[in-house]
Amino acid sequence: MSNHWHLDYQGEHAVLTLDVEGQSANVLSQDVLHEFEKHLEELESKMLEGVIIRSGKTSGFIAGADVREFVKITEPERATELAQLGQRVLSRLADLPFPSVAVIHGFCLGGGTELALACSYRIARDDPSTRLGLPEVRLGIHPGFAGTVRLPPLVGDFAALDMMLTGRTLSSREARRRGLVDEVTPERHLLNAALTFLKNAPPRRKAPWYRRLPAWKPLRSWVVKLMSARVRRKAHPDHYPAPWRILDLWRDRATEYEEAESLGELLVSRTSRNLVHVFLLSEALKRHGKANAHNIEHVHVVGAGVMGADIAIWAANKGFRVTLQDREPEILARALKKAYGFYKAKLKDPRAVQEAMDRFIPDLEGHGLNCADLVIEAIVEKTGPKQELFRAIEKKVRPETLLATNTSSIPLEVIGEALADPSRLVGLHFFNPVAKMQLVEIVHGAKTSEAAMARARAFTGAIERLPLDVKSSPGFLVNRILMPYLLEAVKMVEEGVSVTAIDNAATEFGMPMGPITLADTVGLDICLSVAEELSGPLGIEVPARLREVVGQGHLGRKSGQGFYQYDARGHKQSLAPDKTAVDVPVTERLVLRLLNEAVACLREGVVADPDAVDAGMVYGTGFAPFLGGPMRYVENLGVTGISHSLHRLSQEYGPRFNPDAGWTNPDLLRSGNA
Ligand code: NAI
Repeated sequence: MSNHWHLDYQGEHAVLTLDVEGQSANVLSQDVLHEFEKHLEELESKMLEGVIIRSGKTSGFIAGADVREFVKITEPERATELAQLGQRVLSRLADLPFPSVAVIHGFCLGGGTELALACSYRIARDDPSTRLGLPEVRLGIHPGFAGTVRLPPLVGDFAALDMMLTGRTLSSREARRRGLVDEVTPERHLLNAALTFLKNAPPRRKAPWYRRLPAWKPLRSWVVKLMSARVRRKAHPDHYPAPWRILDLWRDRATEYEEAESLGELLVSRTSRNLVHVFLLSEALKRHGKANAHNIEHVHVVGAGVMGADIAIWAANKGFRVTLQDREPEILARALKKAYGFYKAKLKDPRAVQEAMDRFIPDLEGHGLNCADLVIEAIVEKTGPKQELFRAIEKKVRPETLLATNTSSIPLEVIGEALADPSRLVGLHFFNPVAKMQLVEIVHGAKTSEAAMARARAFTGAIERLPLDVKSSPGFLVNRILMPYLLEAVKMVEEGVSVTAIDNAATEFGMPMGPITLADTVGLDICLSVAEELSGPLGIEVPARLREVVGQGHLGRKSGQGFYQYDARGHKQSLAPDKTAVDVPVTERLVLRLLNEAVACLREGVVADPDAVDAGMVYGTGFAPFLGGPMRYVENLGVTGISHSLHRLSQEYGPRFNPDAGWTNPDLLRSGNA
């Protein structure tokens, strides 16, 4: 009895189709692997020309191993056994007495790619949605179904290391160029091409000798040195051990057995646990974004400055018809130029660039308002102009048009006062730069309707961004949590701690960039205005030093001088290393202010639960993914220790470290299951 696989004998050959029961995407759970093995056992005794392996899902071939099973495994030995199960089944596939061919469409990832590697041949559909890769490293692990062993001889060592170390996926054509697949064809020829391979059984593909040269023993340590330098730029060995393990396995020409053992250790490590947590959070937000229909085809954006232009460019890139309005034709011309540059770099194919440009329509007069399904306001951050604009907008749009503001600090209720129907107004708070930052805060004011929220989430999902529900309150979630952390950094500069010591402490902790560099990059004037905005309602003190530098016209990178100096191209000038010992607990002060504010947000119900805090901070700021987000970090560290540290810091540095009342409520801090 087969739940997931369907075996069909068609004359001389067999077709084995994977269609995992009850799921929209195929994953290789233990159940699926056991069933696969039974079919292979049956096939082993048949006299066939060959077997075709394909997926019955429209979404793709196989998305990889079942990540949800990972979370349940707590001992390395069990994880190793899981890898060995996969290896055993795939080696039976590789050892079939006749050829096998994987017919690949859509995503083919991780264990899916390893399954394809165990086939004699691989054929991929020629379309942009087909992507192949080994992204395990992003979950803090490496391939475990013999991928580290089978891939290098097929595509060459540099290409294999690059795929495994970056987790990057390849299009079918790129995969063909690298030798990962044997042929790329349009959908209608896939099965015929597969049959031709089975009939003719051409020699199996192997990387040419020169691509295997790096594996030559005298060269290996040199290659590892070269790759280590690349890896070090992205992955601190203590924070992200997986890429370093990949290099070790490659250098030692590890066997399948060694691969499985190494995987066992990594899979139960804290880093992998936290990266899986972060991955599941993003999956949950994606599902949230797909749960409803948006009924949006035409988006009208008002304000073509930093944010408006980028939002419009991104939405048109994702297939929406976009009209972009501003007061000044020059600003629209600048946005148009930016759009062209973006599409050219991103889409490459001139026809696709032209199509995207056709969807991106500058609209000085605001004609687009009449037929827009969604209007996004991104003008100056001032209440008066925003209210005035919405008053005018409401008169022109259809009753079903969804209205959104990109405000970062004005309460939705206040903007909504200008509207006859404030229930249709939501916040769509994008982060800068839009093309890089995955998160969008979906802000609900007291009067926002659930229908408006649902459409806003669905639109965000449709433009491939992660929608996170937040309550309209000062700074929403992400800016509010980030601000005390940034201000504490400035406070330490004021006290005489060097900027590099502060930034290094944060990056050592795992932040993508230090708080001082971040403030310089965002713009010190913007930091100051957000800080002032939040200081009243949240009682946050703004360090005098910040006002001082802004008063001197030092606005950060954009003005050539902030806390650091920048050259004409915006590159930070390096400072002489500061050798003086720092007797201030820099990391502790930065991180505890951030955590304390995160707990305050939970207590006030700014977001629903700790998982939402983690998702917001990881995808909105890049908060150390290997720590799983602030609340996962709290869970790992223990609340008692953190409360003690906050008490101690509050005695030494003042009441801003007073532990928030939320720390004493365990229910508030309990994470979901992602
Ligand atoms: P910006 O100053 O770069 O752009 C504002 C644009 O709106 C200008 O081009 C201006 O000509 C235009 N404009 C002003 N009044 C208008 C009107 N009545 N009709 C048509 N166009 C008008 O501002 P930026 O930075 O893009 O910010 C826009 C909004 O996005 C603000 O609410 C801000 O708080 C928010 N935001 C900004 C972020 C950032 O990093 N800059 C991040 C997230 C949100």
